[in-house]
Amino acid sequence: MYYNMDGYYSQLFRADSLNDKLVEAMKAERHDRVKYQRMMEMTTDPAVIKQIKFAYDDEIKHYGMFQQIYYQLTGVKLDFPIPTNIEKYNTLMEAVQSSIEGESEAVDLYREIFALMTNKQMRDKVFEIITDEQEHFGRFIYLYSMLK
Ligand SMILES: [Fe+2]
Ligand SMILES: [Fe+2]
Repeated sequence: MYYNMDGYYSQLFRADSLNDKLVEAMKAERHDRVKYQRMMEMTTDPAVIKQIKFAYDDEIKHYGMFQQIYYQLTGVKLDFPIPTNIEKYNTLMEAVQSSIEGESEAVDLYREIFALMTNKQMRDKVFEIITDEQEHFGRFIYLYSMLK
């Protein structure tokens, strides 16, 4: 009996923790999209804009995917407003450097989410998102060397 109780509570704990991480993920996606919008406004170079736009376009897709996963798990449709109080950068280079770190942190968080999931369909979605973030990471490294 104690065994079952333990199993039950640890399952609950896992679910809560996964839900919290999904909320964090949705907020991060919202944040990054606005950040990349601002970054595109800091330059007129089409080659630079092109690299940032890849990530900008993906983040809204990711937001919707995490929203759907959260809904499938909880029955609750969460929606966060587009943030307006985004941190400011003096140069595009500074923003690119922080984006390299940001994308790397996103990969870490989404790996944790992946590890907490058992449903294959949901795991496939998170895997796709992780792959996209790794691509963003690579593109920002490329931008860093372009702007240096
Ligand atoms: Fe993303
Ligand atoms: Fe990203």
